[in-house]
Amino acid sequence: MVDVILGLQWGDEGKGKIVDFFAPQYDIIARFQGGPNAGHTLYVDGKKIVLHQIPSGIFHQNTTNIIGNGVVLDPVTLKRECDAVAAFGIDVKKNLYIAERTNLIVPTHRALDRASELAKGDGKIGSTLKGIGPAYMDKTGRNALRVGDLADKSFITNYIKLRLKHQKLLDNFNFNEDISAWEEEFFEAIEFLRTLNIVNGEYFINNKISQGKKVLAEGAQGTMLDIDFGTFPFVTSSSTISAGVCTGLGVAPQKIRDVLGVTKAYCTRVGSGPFPTELDDSTGDELRKIGSEFGATTGRPRRCGWIDLVALKYTCMINGVTQVVMTKADVLDAFAELNVCTSYNINGVEKEEVPFQMTRVRMNPVYKAFDGWNCDTTQIKDAAKLPANMSNYIDFINKYIGAPVKYVSNGPGREQIVKL
Ligand code: GDP
Ligand code: IMO
Ligand code: MG
Repeated sequence: MVDVILGLQWGDEGKGKIVDFFAPQYDIIARFQGGPNAGHTLYVDGKKIVLHQIPSGIFHQNTTNIIGNGVVLDPVTLKRECDAVAAFGIDVKKNLYIAERTNLIVPTHRALDRASELAKGDGKIGSTLKGIGPAYMDKTGRNALRVGDLADKSFITNYIKLRLKHQKLLDNFNFNEDISAWEEEFFEAIEFLRTLNIVNGEYFINNKISQGKKVLAEGAQGTMLDIDFGTFPFVTSSSTISAGVCTGLGVAPQKIRDVLGVTKAYCTRVGSGPFPTELDDSTGDELRKIGSEFGATTGRPRRCGWIDLVALKYTCMINGVTQVVMTKADVLDAFAELNVCTSYNINGVEKEEVPFQMTRVRMNPVYKAFDGWNCDTTQIKDAAKLPANMSNYIDFINKYIGAPVKYVSNGPGREQIVKL
């Protein structure tokens, strides 16, 4: 049996905290897509840690964590992260596993990401520059190196072949930065990677499922960044949706039970691309300030706006969401009036559907206004104590999106979550 936690917006919904909260109920936490572009923030013993590659169950001693085949893995980030986790007294060699079919990010992927973004100029995607796009291109282009290839004597030869191919592309971009330091740390990290538990991921997971173990699949990014259903081309390069769990871990669709979708009580986006409810004003600034909306991976200020129910209903549909977790509800404590987007006015016509593309049209969000709750909710533990105006806000959202908000997160701490 596999449950899924994934993002319903443009990433940074608070997935890391929510996975960490639910982890004790599961035997295995599995990452199924994405790479070090993810930044999942956790608080462990009051100390903040941001995970990029390692699943967010790593701090629970009895939980097995697996990096699945759908992930693109940068050994350098992984090594750094393993060291950071070890400083908390966690033995990664004991409860971290990596699927052989996981694709590797090599230094020239990072260089290509930079070169490609530079070449795009104003049209850039706003990539995290971690080499994600180029690494997935080599996967679908059938050129990539995979973790299982480390056991092959020709690994270095194949690495050099790939590097030469990348060099030609970099030459086309006129990109000539020296990446020898990156290569040096890459090979050091490769030696470290060899010492970790490398397994046949699909058998590993399916055998555990057959034994009755419970698996939690942890999504990275969010559905609006999905390669197929997101705001293309301003997306990431993987399947961030529940279907991605099947291809990213090797589990059959019938094995998937609950899909927990995580949304903020408002909305953010980092990087370029359409964002219909973006607030380019003092309200947007307030959301950013109160919500500490700065990227966990790049530190970039996040664009902020009201919750977009058109997009949320769409992402619940695509994922088959069974329960919604609403995070950062406390950030709205200070707002006298709240807005929720209920339709888009596109070229003068009101629509309740996410269109094929949002950039070449005149698009305005249509809002319904709500009274705020104007009180501190951060210490509330019991659903009955939540302010009535918050319940109204949530009831409306439930009805609109057709999926129930079952948890409200009211602060970054592990214990700050209310079950409805
Ligand atoms: P992820 O990528 O989806 O795991 O989310 P990030 O970690 O990138 O960003 C979410 C940020 O919000 C982190 O700084 C969290 O500590 C913080 N956070 C998570 N849930 C809550 C919440 O309910 N309230 C507040 N105030 N902060 C939260
Ligand atoms: P988590 O898992 C928010 C965004 C980037 C950029 C676009 C493509 O922390 O929610 P990429 O690096 O994949 O080439 O970037 O996607 N992006 C994210 N935004 N949260 C993330 O991950 C993201 N990962 C990528 O800002 O716009
Ligand atoms: Mg994040």
